[in-house]
Amino acid sequence: MTILLTGAAGFIGSHLTRQLLAAGHVVIGLDNFDDQYDPALKRQAIRPFIRLANYRLVTGDIRDQALLAEVLSQYRCDTVVHLAARTGVRASVHEPALCIDVNVTGTLALLEAMRVSNVRRLVLASSSSVYGNSSFVPFREDDEANGPLSPYAMSKRSAELLAHTYHHLYGFDVACLRFFTVYGPRQRPEMAISKFTARLLDGKPITLYGDGSTTRNYTYVQDTVTGIIQAIHHLGGFDLLNIGGMASISLSELVHLIEQAVGQRAIINWQPAQPGDAQSTCADLRQAQARIGYYPSVSIKEGIGRFINWYKKQALNQPIV
Ligand SMILES: NC(=O)c1ccc[n+]([C@@H]2O[C@H](COP(=O)([O-])OP(=O)(O)OC[C@H]3O[C@@H](n4cnc5c(N)ncnc54)[C@H](O)[C@@H]3O)[C@@H](O)[C@H]2O)c1
Repeated sequence: MTILLTGAAGFIGSHLTRQLLAAGHVVIGLDNFDDQYDPALKRQAIRPFIRLANYRLVTGDIRDQALLAEVLSQYRCDTVVHLAARTGVRASVHEPALCIDVNVTGTLALLEAMRVSNVRRLVLASSSSVYGNSSFVPFREDDEANGPLSPYAMSKRSAELLAHTYHHLYGFDVACLRFFTVYGPRQRPEMAISKFTARLLDGKPITLYGDGSTTRNYTYVQDTVTGIIQAIHHLGGFDLLNIGGMASISLSELVHLIEQAVGQRAIINWQPAQPGDAQSTCADLRQAQARIGYYPSVSIKEGIGRFINWYKKQALNQPIV
């Protein structure tokens, strides 16, 4: 397959690139190296691929519809994996217009470019945040998901709805994958596991919002990548699928696991819950299991151990946030 991968230099995108190239696919990686976190980390992440014969890097913006159409036809792409986004729930509360512009208008530009280029296979990165504070737990894909708590959650739900529209109007095959907090090597520096690890190793206090009881389903990045690849292979019709980890744990339990793996107690600065944050995320994975054979395989304990081993090796080169 020849795959246009948007957000290719990001955390999930760089892991996915490696797996797709190893499987013999051609990857056209598109990224605008935005400044949400240090673009040097993204350039470093894709460095191993740059000279490979089945990889091309295109530096550009998903809102540039003409560029996308040109890339799709120039490289004869047959499939698109759309990961590019303005990420982060809290960031979206501060910059709602930018979030909507990139995640909604940008997704529309991509869909239009695909339509004019006659490319109709799309895997779209969505998010567990679309469930908001739904009382139907664990979260199932048939939940209406109409109570977003942040511009980011709204933008992800809107992108799903836009993709459904293109499925309906133009016969696109679409899989919208709702990722549940993804972690692992190269995780975005502002995300909890990265940030806590950096600060603990540096002997600095960590800030926890709420009372530690919020729960999250954490997914090791290798499982997320497996889910994306299986979705690519099973594209057909329109699917909404939860791609989560093995279990949900509380924020306090997460900190405890990181403390154990690092071998150091955390100094905790407690702060009130943040607007936009959900109380819990908990994935029902039965639909993804039945539809694409998705089974996560890395437990949170094992994943945290792997992450911290990686982090320690990289620590000298990593900024401490
Ligand atoms: N990491 C998670 O826990 C998580 C959870 C749910 C959903 N997601 C979704 O998965 C996708 C990948 O997330 P990630 O954690 O790898 O984030 P990331 O920020 O590391 O990767 C996103 C990439 O998109 C690029 N990008 C941003 N705006 C762009 C634009 N206008 N044009 C082209 N490229 C642009 C960025 O430069 C970045 O490299 C995103 O859509 C995100 O919303 C991630």
